[in-house]
Amino acid sequence: MKKTILITGGAGFIGSHVVRRFVKSYPNYNIINLDALTYAGNLENLTDIEKFDNYSFIKADITNEHTIEQIFSDNQIDGVIHLAAESHVDRSITDPMAFIKTNILGTVILLNAAKRKWKDNFEGKLFYHISTDEVYGSLGDEGFFTEATSYDPRSPYSASKASSDHLVRAYHHTYGLPIVISNCSNNYGPNQFPEKLIPLAINNIKNNKPIPIYGKGENVRDWLYVHDHAAAIDLIFHKAKIGETYNIGGNNEWKNIDLIKVLCRVMDVKLNRNTGDSEKLITYVKDRAGHDLRYAIDSTKLQKELGWKPSLQFEEGITKTVEWYLSNQKWLDDIVSGNYQQYYESQYKSR
Ligand code: NAD
Ligand code: TYD
Repeated sequence: MKKTILITGGAGFIGSHVVRRFVKSYPNYNIINLDALTYAGNLENLTDIEKFDNYSFIKADITNEHTIEQIFSDNQIDGVIHLAAESHVDRSITDPMAFIKTNILGTVILLNAAKRKWKDNFEGKLFYHISTDEVYGSLGDEGFFTEATSYDPRSPYSASKASSDHLVRAYHHTYGLPIVISNCSNNYGPNQFPEKLIPLAINNIKNNKPIPIYGKGENVRDWLYVHDHAAAIDLIFHKAKIGETYNIGGNNEWKNIDLIKVLCRVMDVKLNRNTGDSEKLITYVKDRAGHDLRYAIDSTKLQKELGWKPSLQFEEGITKTVEWYLSNQKWLDDIVSGNYQQYYESQYKSR
């Protein structure tokens, strides 16, 4: 019998790459994409696969218990890959409650539905929770997050993701629910909503608008191309030991300011500008409240146990990303002209 995999948040940035990979690689699976289509969800991300026989979409909110229970009753779901979340730190500072609802309550509603549906037989079932390295807190100049690092979330976003991780583990230990969790570093690549650093900067450079750098630009992030994250998710979903956690990272640390300078150089070339023109747009703005200094992932466990490693060098990944945004003008325009614009005004006008 065909397996049915429910992927939540599949219309978002990472989720859409995961959905595409699963739909194309596993014709023997039914892939259900469940997404509420919030401001971050965009079905235009998936137009190339929407007609595939093994793909279906359900518009639903994971915080709606009745709907989620109904979806689990109506479908013989064998696996869940849970990506649906409120995902932007700055929004979590302005409106924590949306993060509490979706990231914590929504996750528990899914866990309950899976537990109820699967309770008689957990054989062959898996609840895979997608999380972030931000649950581990902030590093100084040295060291890396491993799977044994204590949780120390410091933003409403990371605290909500940490809570959901704890609940997923609690359902494993208490009820025996078969789970696995991965915690990944910052992703970049096609289809990322232009509120996050890289697509926001690409869009602003293109339009000759200031590139806002928080504080001194010295915060460090470990960047991973989104296809490499999707490949890790595929591997973990199929090969991981039940109950385990895996860190996923690019081994690719950049200070924000250095990353933006690389991006500016790539954009100068692609837009036929003189070298240095785009850098002139760099503008230092008020720092983010509680801004974590550095994230860096040790992904040795995933590399050794499951044989994963990132496939792209950063220069190649950032070039592909810029090319995608420049040749998908309509995708970007549709987003920038909508709700995102109002959010952008309120986020940046006071900085
Ligand atoms: P995103 O914001 O681009 O997409 C989130 C998706 O979830 C959207 O399609 C949205 O419509 C959907 N969604 C939001 N609330 C929902 C609800 N209540 N019910 C149903 N659907 C809802 O996020 P992303 O960057 O693709 O991140 C996906 C997951 O990966 C998140 O769990 C995030 O915490 C995690 N993650 C992200 C990164 C990163 O760098 N972006 C890194 C590590 C982990
Ligand atoms: P972001 O893409 O929001 O991811 P996260 O906060 O989850 O790491 O931000 C990446 C880094 O870039 C982070 O240190 C904050 C910084 N940043 C800016 O300097 N300017 C911006 O306009 C944004 C959105 C982020």
